[in-house]
Formats: sequence, structure tokens, C-alpha cells
Amino acid sequence: MTTSKRGALITGASAGLGEAFARLLAAEGHDLMLVARRADRLQALADELSGKHGIRVLVCPLDLGQPQAAAMIEAQASAHQFTVDILINNAGLAEPVSFLNYPVEDVRAMLEVMVTGLTELCHRFGRGMVTRGWGRIINVSSLAAFAPNSPGMLYTGIKSYVLNMSQALDLQMKPAGVHVTALCPGFTWTEFHDTQGTRDWANRLPRILWQDADTVVKAGWQAVCAGESICVPGVVNKAVSSFTKHLPERLRYLVSMRARMVN
Ligand SMILES: NC(=O)c1ccc[n+]([C@@H]2O[C@H](COP(=O)([O-])OP(=O)(O)OC[C@H]3O[C@@H](n4cnc5c(N)ncnc54)[C@H](OP(=O)(O)O)[C@@H]3O)[C@@H](O)[C@H]2O)c1
Repeated sequence: MTTSKRGALITGASAGLGEAFARLLAAEGHDLMLVARRADRLQALADELSGKHGIRVLVCPLDLGQPQAAAMIEAQASAHQFTVDILINNAGLAEPVSFLNYPVEDVRAMLEVMVTGLTELCHRFGRGMVTRGWGRIINVSSLAAFAPNSPGMLYTGIKSYVLNMSQALDLQMKPAGVHVTALCPGFTWTEFHDTQGTRDWANRLPRILWQDADTVVKAGWQAVCAGESICVPGVVNKAVSSFTKHLPERLRYLVSMRARMVN
């Protein structure tokens, strides 16, 4: 898909979509820098992919919920002379309880991972990409960005922010050769619903709504290479997003009142 070997930074690479991105980009011959908290998983993946593809893989175990995380990642990349030309801002979670029941420290950490940290990584690495005249950034949003809210859940608003800011960055950076894409997956088979505690609820949904992680990351990578600023993977998800984003505001609010996912 890309012509030459690049350096790719992937957050949330210890599971799910992040791990699938690591496998896809490694198979294309790119060097990797993998970020997440679970060091053992990152190291096992790094050993496997460097052995299989002959690429350089740096492991960067840290908590993206801390305010200094993005600066620490940049410092590590610089110390290892690792040039980030591809940034996959993927790490994320959905809160297991609603707003007022979620400890404020956890609210802050969630915003650090999915809003502040994600934005800061785009800033810290986007500037270099623009200077070099080439870059690819995927910010993982969600189909939820188009959906009605759920009572007391920040997730929808956070993913709407990611969608909107990605488009704004794409508009600024694309003339300089840097493509930015908001990847908006629907239900995807990963550990996401186990972490959130909604696995039983999710398992009752029709199978047609689900995609596997490899399919989603392939669509996202193709989209960013093609310069598409939004990628909604799969026909079913495209239909759902077209429908939900055109709902009248009043109806969206009424639907939201019934869409309680967590207490
Ligand atoms: N699966 C879905 O149905 C779905 C649908 C739409 C959008 N998404 C989005 O897709 C992205 C990836 O989710 P996934 O489905 O692959 O979920 P997952 O399997 O639970 O993986 C989440 C990844 O994020 C990392 N992460 C979470 N909190 C972190 C923190 N504080 N610091 C560092 N890393 C952290 C986890 O690593 P550690 O635990 O090792 O730190 C893990 O690697 C998320 O942004 C999610 O919102 C998922």
C-alpha cells in the first residue's frame, strides 16, 4: 500500500484493533513502536513480528491516562531515532458506569487517553510529518460518533470530537502530504466489551452487526492511503451511520432517553 518502509506508532497495540494494525503494518514492512500498559503482551507481539518480518519493533509500555504520556512517547521515539511517519491513535475504552457514578480521576484519565493525549500525539508527530511532506494518521473514532447519546455516557461525545478534529487536521495537513482519517468502526470482535462489562449485552446483538478486527483495520488503512477523511467500514455500518446522522434532533433525544447502556 505504501511505497517505502516507514515508522509507525500504534497506541493500544496490546489487543484488538491496535494489535491488528501492528500485524498489518508489519506485513507491509514498516517499523513499529507499540504503546499500551500491558508490557508482556507488547513484548510478545514485538518478538513475533520482528522475527517474522525482519522489522524493528520498539515497545513502549505506559499508561496513556497520565498527562505526560505523549511527551514521554516523543522522548522515547527521539532517544531511539525512530521517525514516526504513521500514527495510529487507537487506544480507548468505554466507561463501565455512567458519568456521576464514575470516579472523577477515571473521568480525567479517560479524557487523557481518548481526547487530550490523542490530540497531543497528532500535534507532536504531525508537525514532523508536514515538514517531511509525508504522513498518515488514523484516529480511531466509532460509529457511536453518529449515534444518539446514551444517558451519562461520555463515549459518544468523545468519539464525535475525534471525528470532527480529524477532519479539521486533515483539512490543514493534506496539502502538505499528510492524510488524516477518522476510522469509525461499529461492533468489532475485540476485548472492548469485556473491559466495559457489556459483553452479555453485546452478545445478544445480531451477528450481522459485527466485524472482525482485521477487516476493520484493512478498511481504515486503505482509506487513509486513499486520502479519505472518514472511514465507516462495512455496508451495514455505512447504512446505520447514514440513517442515524439524519435523524431529527428531537427524535435523537427521545431515542437517547431509552438507550441506557450502563448505570
Ligand atoms: N470493539 C468495538 O466494538 C469498537 C467499536 C468502535 C470503536 N472502537 C474503538 O476502537 C479502539 C480500540 O478498541 P478495541 O476494540 O481494540 O478494544 P480492546 O481490545 O479493549 O483494546 C483496547 C486497547 O487500548 C489500550 N488502552 C486502554 N486504556 C489504556 C491506557 N490508559 N493506556 C494505554 N493503553 C490503553 C489497551 O491496552 P492495555 O490495557 O494493555 O493498556 C488495549 O490495547 C478504541 O478507541 C475503541 O473506542 C471499538
